[in-house]
Amino acid sequence: MKNFDEFYQDSTILVTGGAGAIGGNLCRRLADLNVKKVIILDNLASSYEWNIPRASNIVFVKGDILDDEALRRVFKERPEYVFHLAAHFANQNSVDNPETDLLVNGMGILKVLQYAHLTGVKRFVYSSSGCGVYGLDSKMPFEEHDVSIRLFTPYQVTKLLGELYTNYFYNLYQLPIVNARFFNSYGPGEVPGRYRNVIPNFFYWAMKGEPLPITGDGTETRDWTYVGDIVNGLLAMGVREEAIGEAFNLGSGEEQRVIDMANTVLTLTGSRAGIVYRERRDWDKKAHLLSCIAKGQRLLGYQPKTTFAEGLRETHRWFVENWENIAKSAEF
Ligand SMILES: NC(=O)c1ccc[n+]([C@@H]2O[C@H](COP(=O)([O-])OP(=O)(O)OC[C@H]3O[C@@H](n4cnc5c(N)ncnc54)[C@H](O)[C@@H]3O)[C@@H](O)[C@H]2O)c1
Repeated sequence: MKNFDEFYQDSTILVTGGAGAIGGNLCRRLADLNVKKVIILDNLASSYEWNIPRASNIVFVKGDILDDEALRRVFKERPEYVFHLAAHFANQNSVDNPETDLLVNGMGILKVLQYAHLTGVKRFVYSSSGCGVYGLDSKMPFEEHDVSIRLFTPYQVTKLLGELYTNYFYNLYQLPIVNARFFNSYGPGEVPGRYRNVIPNFFYWAMKGEPLPITGDGTETRDWTYVGDIVNGLLAMGVREEAIGEAFNLGSGEEQRVIDMANTVLTLTGSRAGIVYRERRDWDKKAHLLSCIAKGQRLLGYQPKTTFAEGLRETHRWFVENWENIAKSAEF
């Protein structure tokens, strides 16, 4: 396959949610590919001014995907590519705030799809979720066809709903969509907080000298995927013809135990505060998550490159470099 530069250079790209953990990493990579313009549309609902990627070809528009004025403004620029990452994040937040979850993740994607269709974009890539679309009755390692409707949180329901909408726009209007199913992203750029993922939260607590709370017994596993690898998968989905109308797992294809991750965080940070065990959250029914990435390897050339040890070191480095801002922003 040709380099990504050859596809993306001189184009205009809209990234909704581009100020967020994954979106920020995607926008930085795109800006380096000599694109004409990366437009970030984000209302900073779960992200921070200081963490917005900056470059001469990145334009930040503070706005809501539910607001037609903001949508008209960004689509007037005629983006050829849309990466739709804006979302109400994530499971616990959706259990606490189910109506906002439906508005942002349901009505939000419908609105962005309508504008993408009206302006005729070349590609629409949607950030779906492995934890959203695979349920207890899906067989591990999860393959793309084995979607479940036995779900446990509003977020899982609306991430699946997003795929139903993208598929509908593809089926009826031939809008060139692709569904990316991320598996537990981690890495530089994710600010810890009450509703954030376990890895940034563990680094935060370890650096504050507090014990790491494991909800369960620690033998649970996750398919943690380094954000740089996810970005490579997204870039391939934006340009590969074979990807159109399809869904792909973007995972590492490997399981890691929560207890081992926690011990690595304690070692990297030099924390002696140890681990405390708490009850598993009632919606957290999946003790193990593992993706099958064969389809992405075959059709996208997707190949995660960052080992878990390297990825955790990079995450720690980012925490150390940005500690002042992180400590100010983290809310629990
Ligand atoms: N992080 C993961 O492990 C993971 C796993 C599966 C799927 N995903 C999906 O990937 C995408 C990006 O996730 P992330 O980890 O970067 O999350 P994030 O919360 O850091 O990013 C989402 C961004 O969307 C913005 N946003 C929220 N509501 C908005 C609205 N109404 N209008 C405009 N912007 C809005 C937020 O401010 C934030 O910057 C999300 O769609 C998420 O559901 C993430």
